[in-house]
Amino acid sequence: DGDVFKYYADGEWKKSSSGKSVAIVNPTTRKTQYKVQACTQEEVNKVMEIAKTAQKQWAKTPLWKRAELLHKAAALLKEHKAPIAECLVKEIAKPAKDSVTEVVRSGDLVSYCAEEGVRILGEGKFLVSDSFPGNERTKYCLTSKIPLGVVLAIPPFNYPVNLAVSKIAPAIIAGNSLVLKPPTQGLISCITGKGSEIGDFLTMHPGVNCISFTGGDTGVAISKKAGMVPLQMELGGKDACIVLEDADLDLVAANIIKGGFSYSGQRCTAVKVVLAMESIADSLVEKVNAKVAKLTVGPPEENCDITPVVTESSANFIEGLVLDAKKKGATFCQEYKRDGNLIWPLFLDNVRPDMRIAWEEPFGPVLPVIRINTVEEGIHHCNASNFGLQGCVFTRDINKAILISDAMESGTIQINSAPARGPDHFPFQGLKDSGIGSQGVTNSINLMTKVKTTVINLP
Ligand code: G3H
Repeated sequence: DGDVFKYYADGEWKKSSSGKSVAIVNPTTRKTQYKVQACTQEEVNKVMEIAKTAQKQWAKTPLWKRAELLHKAAALLKEHKAPIAECLVKEIAKPAKDSVTEVVRSGDLVSYCAEEGVRILGEGKFLVSDSFPGNERTKYCLTSKIPLGVVLAIPPFNYPVNLAVSKIAPAIIAGNSLVLKPPTQGLISCITGKGSEIGDFLTMHPGVNCISFTGGDTGVAISKKAGMVPLQMELGGKDACIVLEDADLDLVAANIIKGGFSYSGQRCTAVKVVLAMESIADSLVEKVNAKVAKLTVGPPEENCDITPVVTESSANFIEGLVLDAKKKGATFCQEYKRDGNLIWPLFLDNVRPDMRIAWEEPFGPVLPVIRINTVEEGIHHCNASNFGLQGCVFTRDINKAILISDAMESGTIQINSAPARGPDHFPFQGLKDSGIGSQGVTNSINLMTKVKTTVINLP
């Protein structure tokens, strides 16, 4: 069937023997935009086998050559940014300009990874034995980094290109082979299919030597089922924004808009709860509301700020949180409005801890404000969350900011800026249910390798 995109294995684009396909639904039109192959478990087995064989050969390819190939791939990505970005617009309703930015950022990530890989993997260590008690200088130990084997990468829908290459490039430069399982909302495919058919089968496959996953609750399930392999997981977040009395409120409002509403709040690092000191809350809410009023709402093709959320079930979930907050007395700063998957931006004031939205992650353009009377109250709310991805604090007092950062149980705290993963070489990690391991180019390369030592024993 010419309409169904093929999957990629053994250097070829192939049709699945299942004869079935998975529909990729355009969130704006809510109609099937693309179809991908529904691969079978036998095809997964075949892919794993090929990956295992190919990796042995690839690991012998000189490091400089691996880097050269990655640089070429980066250039190709950037050269074809327009058609790739077009897919993002249609598949996940990412605004057109942001879609192009994602592809360019991804090309840069691949190049950076090639350079960093050459540096990290190009050097090892030399140890001598007499530095440890009881030993003479009779042993020399040489260390180097070797690949793990087959890396399984499962990126999420919201950055189909960037969070795919952030796993692919470190794996490849380090000499691993890679099996990519994009989410069913994603198209850049290697092995595509229904999670129910091949999801568990892939993650529990004995041929997998490392899993790098970005997504939601599925990650928790994967980590329970996965075998004895290194895991890199970036899961959900409920990134808090603590605002102190002395903060620059114009700066805060701008960051709340960018942090809470860009890509319609569908970022794991989006600001998901504002914890504002009561004394400045009225003024902050007023400033944010003025900016919310200026957000454009509509299709991604027109570069609107707020575009349809990725699926109807996601829109229903967001609506559930909004209605719960309404029932329990939150102040609606704007009228709640929805048309299909499109949800108008909504700022909810006077949210209290008994409301679901105080704790749950909407992954949509809806942002709660909880008013606090002390900084400790804010820190307590942040730390009571089961998530701990990022957080931010706004104050002009740097000493206070550092103390608050230390007290917040999150992987990264941004001082005077909204949470963000980039630049892509910065370490990126979540505490608690927000993840396992650390990402960022250097950490990913290290995670996807193992130290190997050779000891020379002297007579
Ligand atoms: O959605 C999860 C991403 O890792 C967030 O990346 O901070 O660049 O939007 P970002």
